[in-house]
Amino acid sequence: MITKPKFMTLERFIREQEESFPKATGEFTAVLFGMTLAAKLVWREVSKAGLVNILGTTEQINFTGDILKKLDLFADETLYKTMYYSGHLCAMASEESKGLIQIPDKYIGGKYVLIYDPLDGSSNIDANITIGTIFSMFKRVTDSGHGTLEDCLQPGYRQVAAGYIIYGTSTMFVYTTGQGVHGFTLDPSVGEFLLSHENIRIPQRGKTYSVNEGNFNLWDDRIKKYIQYLKEINGKPDHPHSLRYIGTMVGDIHRTLLYGGIFMYPADKKNPNGKLRLMYECNPMAFVVEQAGGKASNGFQRILDIKPTSLHQQIPIFIGSPVNVTLCEEFLSGKR
Ligand code: AHG
Ligand code: MN
Ligand code: MN
Repeated sequence: MITKPKFMTLERFIREQEESFPKATGEFTAVLFGMTLAAKLVWREVSKAGLVNILGTTEQINFTGDILKKLDLFADETLYKTMYYSGHLCAMASEESKGLIQIPDKYIGGKYVLIYDPLDGSSNIDANITIGTIFSMFKRVTDSGHGTLEDCLQPGYRQVAAGYIIYGTSTMFVYTTGQGVHGFTLDPSVGEFLLSHENIRIPQRGKTYSVNEGNFNLWDDRIKKYIQYLKEINGKPDHPHSLRYIGTMVGDIHRTLLYGGIFMYPADKKNPNGKLRLMYECNPMAFVVEQAGGKASNGFQRILDIKPTSLHQQIPIFIGSPVNVTLCEEFLSGKR
């Protein structure tokens, strides 16, 4: 009997998935391959972050003669440098750039748009806490030439791929192309991402909620009531739920995906439209979570159905196990 290969690399997995589409041209696969290289390059730098004070800080020359960049700028530049010349993209957009990132004329004409948050959780870098990278891909809607805003500002349900890289106790690449969610763990000794979590399914419900509760007094009454409910059983103070909050969306959602529960960043008095960005953060994470059997909402509407109006648009987000997110929506609409 032929058994499954023990070591399935990310690249082989992507290629095998492509082979199930007879019409595939390989372009989409090439963009995903580019992302795996970018992930390794960023990981290499992330793993040195703690050495920055020894090797030299930003603006200083390190021992190899390079100027050390801040990690988020490094990640941003790395993604650009890995992806711009592929010939398969017509435009890119980064959380770190105000407008659309144009592809140089020489490489223009690709079918896809790549949108990314190069470093998620940047406030956690210096404390050696989990950080991430998030990406999202759309097929262009214009015919040819340089990509336009119209190519980027498509609702999330039109994403053709999305995923994240989590730089935690180990580094993982988790992605979906609409055929389930698959996770690969980096084996640093061989520099390969190996399949470790095939077809991830989020638990239907979970006992963990994840939110910056320091904002409690800035929330409206409905969200306060929901959070209060999570701390009580039948009106009595108890401990039915646990609170976990890293402050890195990638880390908080990755945990939610595996253990169940809910992650949220509601609107508040400081951020009346929410804080997290639709294009760079919410859409890709919503695609992943839905593909794993979960739910992602802005409180009233499915995130993937929102028609974006600008690249840096912010929205409230409630995402995770379907039972938890539905209950939260009931509180937000006043049904409870
Ligand atoms: P980024 O580092 O890309 O700017 O994103 C940070 C985000 C997100 O990762 C996290 O969930 C949230 O900001 C944390 O915000 P608070 O510090 O307000 O809780
Ligand atoms: Mn972010
Ligand atoms: Mn960021």
